[in-house]
Amino acid sequence: MDAAFAELLAPLTESRRAHTIEVGRKVEQVAHLVPEDIRDEVVTAAYLHDVGYGYPVSGFHPLDGAELLEGRGYSPIICHLVAFHSASTVEADVRGIDAEALDQFALAAEVPGIGMANDLVWWADMTTGPTGGTLTLDERLADIRVRYPEGTLVRTAIDRAEPLLRGAVQRASGSM
Ligand SMILES: [Fe+2]
Repeated sequence: MDAAFAELLAPLTESRRAHTIEVGRKVEQVAHLVPEDIRDEVVTAAYLHDVGYGYPVSGFHPLDGAELLEGRGYSPIICHLVAFHSASTVEADVRGIDAEALDQFALAAEVPGIGMANDLVWWADMTTGPTGGTLTLDERLADIRVRYPEGTLVRTAIDRAEPLLRGAVQRASGSM
């Protein structure tokens, strides 16, 4: 793993750091599924997808992570993948976050392979538990529902996002 990743991930809790690193490792193993010119960016985004937890500004970690990385000069593709990981737009909506906040990380032009790139990050995130162990998607969703009871923002978001998450996991695993 890149030394810069370790430095960026230092403020995360040990378990979140283990989770986000494992997501990076998983995506590294399947990165050949995306075009070569975006492979390194997809892997970087996977390792850093939860970095926003360590740098809370808005309190919404996909947005905080993308803004942090943009400020550090990471590419628009990396910032895009972090900003939109695992159906973040659904949780943004539930939280009442202005859609424009995430939209600034939409890509200006069509990037070949970006759909699969997003799917791989979502797949790895949704099959890696909160401390880095491997789970099935169903186990992952059940675990989130235990940690975030009905009535919480995260629970409402995960219930709404489930079809999107399932689609991404199916597309990604179907292409492996
Ligand atoms: Fe994650």
